[in-house]
Amino acid sequence: MARVTAGVGCSHVPAIGVAMDTGITEQPYWQPVFEGFKKSREWMKEQKPDVVFLVYNDHCTAFDASCIPTFALGCAAEFKPADEGWGPRPVPVVKNHQKLASHIAQSVILDEFDLTIMNEMEVDHGLTVPMSVMFGQHGVDDEWPTLVIPLAVNVVQYPAPTGNRCYQLGKAIRRAIDSYPEDLNVVVFGTGGMSHQLQYKRAGLINADWDQRFLDLMTEDPKAASQIQHLEYLRETGSEGIEMVMWLVMRGALDEDVTEVHRHYHVPASNTAVGHIILENQT
Ligand code: DHB
Ligand code: FE
Repeated sequence: MARVTAGVGCSHVPAIGVAMDTGITEQPYWQPVFEGFKKSREWMKEQKPDVVFLVYNDHCTAFDASCIPTFALGCAAEFKPADEGWGPRPVPVVKNHQKLASHIAQSVILDEFDLTIMNEMEVDHGLTVPMSVMFGQHGVDDEWPTLVIPLAVNVVQYPAPTGNRCYQLGKAIRRAIDSYPEDLNVVVFGTGGMSHQLQYKRAGLINADWDQRFLDLMTEDPKAASQIQHLEYLRETGSEGIEMVMWLVMRGALDEDVTEVHRHYHVPASNTAVGHIILENQT
């Protein structure tokens, strides 16, 4: 059977992708950011997932104000890196496990979570940066070492889904993966965050104490984390801190009890607090 073995929480700051693509990761500004991902890449090499179920948000790239799906599941054969204004990132096309994606669509929708099905979609930094960070640099002619099922969550335009809805959706995704007959090692990524605000008077806001508490809750008390309200994210973590609800989809797909095998937190990278956690299921 397919099994969820671990979850990864990871920032998606676009400048991290630029630093990798332009080869400046050893510069003093970036060195401590990437130092904290060395262990993650070693862990990933040992983990060898067959499939990464990657929860991320699109930043007005594949979607715009004309169409705002709350939860959009990638069911296409592949997803090209999008041109976000300075050309597509020089990273591989993302290949799907289409049969598992279709099975998840069937299972989760019949479980009463009404997903949007994407049979064509390009992916932006929200997806490609966590892939680069966790798997290392791979060029356009290369392949990612895993298949990827993307789930795009709307956290750009209110109303965004609640943390609790994301957590419950994670549980439904877990039920779907658990019921898939092929023997597959699946790792779930929850991406985005942590505290950051990109505009207006509080631009540059970072709240390290709050972020660290959120990381603690990810490991120890996900149910409490799922009850955090939108207003608290806004007030404490800035307007873009709401991206953290996507980590709750990942956490919902894991067991109640997990082992934290790695944590990395660094301020700042671009306008953002970089946060990262690796949680393993014990079973
Ligand atoms: C930054 C962070 C984001 O999450 C994003 O989507 C764009 C920019 C930043 O810190 O610059
Ligand atoms: Fe973002």
